[in-house]
Amino acid sequence: MKKIAVFASGNGSNFQAIIDVVKAGQLEADIALLVCDKPEAFAAQRAKAAHIPTFAFNPKEYGSKEAYEKAVLEKLTSYGVEFIVLAGFMRLIGPTLLGAYAGRIVNIHPSLLPAFPGKDAIGQALAAKAKWSGVTIHFVDEGMDTGPIIVQERFRLSEKETRESLQRKIQSIEYKLYPSILQMLLTRGEVESDKKARTY
Ligand code: GRF
Repeated sequence: MKKIAVFASGNGSNFQAIIDVVKAGQLEADIALLVCDKPEAFAAQRAKAAHIPTFAFNPKEYGSKEAYEKAVLEKLTSYGVEFIVLAGFMRLIGPTLLGAYAGRIVNIHPSLLPAFPGKDAIGQALAAKAKWSGVTIHFVDEGMDTGPIIVQERFRLSEKETRESLQRKIQSIEYKLYPSILQMLLTRGEVESDKKARTY
């Protein structure tokens, strides 16, 4: 079973969804470590409840991105982590981690990339009066939500869409889509990039 680390900065509801499917035997992975750049984040409590070790760190206590990524890399290596799953991790991944885990870091983003990258993708979509929204899972490169797309799932916004309703729709896709794509990536080693776009 592949050892994975989940990186999260906040609530960690996607992390929880991953914990739950692993427990249910629907995702063949060993969640070896949570990496969290906000020690007070709720994600860290979820890890504790699930008996998953956490490496929580405050980036400000390190001199540079390279310095804290070296510390993260040391932890990942000591836990034998083979694959990194970003789930609401609010920092760009730098050369230290990208070099060590090339092609083995994925992210989930609440928009149809390349539309609305970065922070508050849901707010951006509403402000732009987008007709479609959805979820993107992609490999991570040095850019902001720019890596090769693995899968997108889309839906049409309703005319009465609110931030809450949109967020709910996105989350309900995320909690199913991320585990199923991770299962493919971790057991088959690859997915056909961009060919699994679904519409409903
Ligand atoms: C998710 O919407 C994810 O797509 C984005 O950040 C959010 C994290 O939410 N990258 P949570 O912390 O998993 O609840």
